[in-house]
Amino acid sequence: MKIAVIPGDGIGPEIIRQAYKLLDRVGAKYNIDFEYQEVLMGGVAIDKTGLPLPEETLDICKKSDAVLLGAVGGEKWESLPGHLRPEAGLLAIRKGLGVFANLRPAILFKQLKSASSLKEDVLGDGLDIMVVRELTGGIYFGDRGRRQGKNGQEAWDTEAYSEMEIERVARVAFDIARKRSKRLMSIDKANVLESSRLWREVVIRVAQDYPDVSLSHMYVDNAAMQLVRNPRQFDVIVTSNIFGDILSDEASMLTGSLGMLPSASLGQGSLGLYEPIHGSAPDIAGQDKANPIATIMSVAMMVRYSLGSQEAARAIELAVEAALDEGYRTQDIMEPGMTLVGTEEMGDKIASRI
Ligand code: IPM
Ligand code: MG
Repeated sequence: MKIAVIPGDGIGPEIIRQAYKLLDRVGAKYNIDFEYQEVLMGGVAIDKTGLPLPEETLDICKKSDAVLLGAVGGEKWESLPGHLRPEAGLLAIRKGLGVFANLRPAILFKQLKSASSLKEDVLGDGLDIMVVRELTGGIYFGDRGRRQGKNGQEAWDTEAYSEMEIERVARVAFDIARKRSKRLMSIDKANVLESSRLWREVVIRVAQDYPDVSLSHMYVDNAAMQLVRNPRQFDVIVTSNIFGDILSDEASMLTGSLGMLPSASLGQGSLGLYEPIHGSAPDIAGQDKANPIATIMSVAMMVRYSLGSQEAARAIELAVEAALDEGYRTQDIMEPGMTLVGTEEMGDKIASRI
């Protein structure tokens, strides 16, 4: 399996090191030959080439079986114009690889119930929500600009969706719902936005091909509230790029920490982009403090979706649970009575349980 690896900025390189540890063990155990090629993207790429996503990086990624990404961004590059910032590289690689469906599972490990920001009685016997976020359209890619107006400068961004873009991500979400509880919640703002009205129409149309899945709709403001009021009502969520960005951060805190959530971005083929949903956390970079679990769980998703090995994916997830069962915690999920470990040690503990 050829994997293009983007360590990126901040804590990126240190969490990616833990991914390698895992993959080495998984490769040995399941007889899989992983071949890595590290490529530049984000701030490091800007420093070395002047561009957040050099052409060579995209080429190598396109020729790989999967792309594993740490994180990009940092204060150092914040004053650059929008299209030259590290985040522009991230958006460009998603677009360039055509990975329009971003799967963000928010799973609460039973070991971390008290790390959740919600009360135990709201969490019941756990949380398992799958957010399917549209990833290559909408306002993050729409027309934008500035102009001089009567009241000083004006700036605009545009939310635009085509039927094709909505339909293909809706199908991914329905397929996932079909394999889970057969419930799908589409989240929009159809009481105000025309793009949301089209979103809803298309999702309802696609639903006709999935009579076994029950579809419901919710406005995004209500969804933000319901997620903290009663998160257990959600199973699979499908939503636009910007709403998915916001709601997935919210969902992550329900699971205890932003440091726990992985993601898989998929397109039409088996090539996928795998990354933790958290950012580059420059404030703790290089201090052996970062939680590598989101990245390790992203590796599990990579093995599942791009390699098709359920068995190896499950082994990684169980190894994470085993390390948590034994009481190992990074600082973000630390609780009294547990054993505080750094990034490297957490990586070692998990890898050794494969
Ligand atoms: C995410 C991040 C990115 C996004 C940023 C860094 C561009 O917040 O993956 O959720 O908005 O998609
Ligand atoms: Mg985000």
